[in-house]
Amino acid sequence: MENLVEAIEQLKKEKNALVMGHYYQRSEIQDVADYIGDSLALAQQAARTEANIIVMCGVHFMGETAKVICPEKKVLVPDMNAGCSLADSCQADAFEQFINQHPGYTVLSYVNTTAAVKALTDVVVTSSNARQIVESFPKEEKIIFGPDKNLGSYINAVTGRNMLLWDGACHVHEQFSVEKIVELKRQYPEALVLAHPECRQAVLAQADVIGSTAALLKYAIAHPEKTYIVATESGILHEMRKRCPQTTFIPAPPSIGVCNECNYMRLNTLEKLYQCLKDESPEIIVDPTIAVKAVKPIQRMLDISAKLGL
Ligand code: 13P
Ligand code: SF4
Repeated sequence: MENLVEAIEQLKKEKNALVMGHYYQRSEIQDVADYIGDSLALAQQAARTEANIIVMCGVHFMGETAKVICPEKKVLVPDMNAGCSLADSCQADAFEQFINQHPGYTVLSYVNTTAAVKALTDVVVTSSNARQIVESFPKEEKIIFGPDKNLGSYINAVTGRNMLLWDGACHVHEQFSVEKIVELKRQYPEALVLAHPECRQAVLAQADVIGSTAALLKYAIAHPEKTYIVATESGILHEMRKRCPQTTFIPAPPSIGVCNECNYMRLNTLEKLYQCLKDESPEIIVDPTIAVKAVKPIQRMLDISAKLGL
């Protein structure tokens, strides 16, 4: 493995390649990445990098977003099968029909969507900026929000809006068990529950802090004296434990089984990362007619986030 890490470092230098990793990646990938972050930070970093090649260690939509932002760069994903159940729950043709059935609505889409869905969208949001972007519209604005119904109803609840929600969800975040979290809270009465807004409402009702992966991490870093039950994909525990070595982090369990890993995120391995840097493949290709439409709502998200200091 040491040799593999050295070989990856060598290839990065030779090819002026930037390796980015999401917090749900395998620990060894996070450790070799030049930059790790949540979906918003990865998009922002893609927009500012001067590297020739971006290797997106994450899932397909993250690679597509980087490619749409940087069409002149080569964007690679170590395993092209790294999809996303949430993005899959919103097919572009069905979403277009839904939009056409509701004329006069502004369309907001979570970043966990294909470029084709983004091309139908007015503004893209992530879990880091969804609330602020929704609040940047007047109260009476009619809004369609897709595809995550859990994030959408959470944003409706905290903003007092009544956005029309697409019925999509993430198979990992839907699985957290309220009963097992309540049981853990009994076992660790001092523990705080950190939850991602893709979790079901009943899980969010148990949470002390709700936010994106970066927001949950930031909270833990600011309060390392606490104990945490973490209701999101367990890859985030790697960076939490690294940044807060004295803190106890307990992964929240799913209803079935013991592990709460995203099987798509875990498809990327160190070996595949090495191979993809070496071969400069597999490469993300986005249909240019879709890309010219998809870049607008992504750019609007980046602009609003910059204005808000996010
Ligand atoms: P974040 O943007 O909060 O990192 O979330 C990405 C994701 O895929 C959550 O399942
Ligand atoms: Fe998609 Fe869920 Fe995996 Fe995130 S955790 S990439 S939303 S399937």
